[in-house]
Amino acid sequence: MKSIVAISAIFSVANAQVSSFCTQYGSYASGAYSVNNNLWGESAGSGSQCTTVNSISGSGVSWSTTWNWSGGSSSVKSYANSGLAFTKKLVSQVGSIPTSVQWSYDNTNINADVSYDLFTAADINHVTYSGDYELMIWLARYGSIQPIGSQIATATIDGKTWELWYGSNGSQKTYSFVASSPIASFSTDVMHFFNYLTQNQGFPASSQYLIDLQFGTEPFTGGPATLSVSSWSANVQ
Ligand SMILES: *[C@@H]1O[C@H](CO)[C@@H](O)[C@H](O)[C@H]1NC(C)=O
Ligand SMILES: *[C@@H]1O[C@H](CO)[C@@H](O)[C@H](O)[C@H]1NC(C)=O
Repeated sequence: MKSIVAISAIFSVANAQVSSFCTQYGSYASGAYSVNNNLWGESAGSGSQCTTVNSISGSGVSWSTTWNWSGGSSSVKSYANSGLAFTKKLVSQVGSIPTSVQWSYDNTNINADVSYDLFTAADINHVTYSGDYELMIWLARYGSIQPIGSQIATATIDGKTWELWYGSNGSQKTYSFVASSPIASFSTDVMHFFNYLTQNQGFPASSQYLIDLQFGTEPFTGGPATLSVSSWSANVQ
């Protein structure tokens, strides 16, 4: 049996495609990584979206998502993403969150962002699809969209300039760092962003658990468009 498992593993690496799905919550996970279609806002408009996993291993994920959405121009339709499973810790007890990504969009005449999305909560058992706080890092902002709230500051992190936006939705407070132009190849330690918020915005790092970490794209309208993520990796240390 062991040798058969090994052969099938070789096949899945050799194949261009590990898994593909178009259902609202289609998902594929292996080890610490997952890839998720996550069409959570699809009912705000009409259209479709499918996500493909090209490779997934301990060293990272390669995936793509293709979508075409119309209607509900101010509403996010989905957040197709790659996610990391990790041991939840207080943000103040996280040493570093190294991550890197390389991505491209084949159509930029769209209303969509390309973003990291992290949630934190005081309750370690909080659901992981929302939090007391949300930290977004927008590597691209295409079209006429904007983050929740309004711009409150300009931040310099990792030598790059970011618009910092803040707004809340119900009990969730969202900080969004927005790059001034698309960053298609990005490596950082996400703690640099949390440390900025702790030092400059009173983010309560010593009482908030990091509960979720994902990278993906939020389409509002447009398409057909394909986001290709040739590699994404992340770690919570
Ligand atoms: C994309 O959506 C638009 C608007 O609904 C539609 O007219 C078009 O045919 C769609 N394109 C594809 C390739 O599905
Ligand atoms: C606020 O949250 C609701 C419920 O999750 C969601 O439908 C809505 O789109 C959110 N609004 C914004 C501006 O993000």
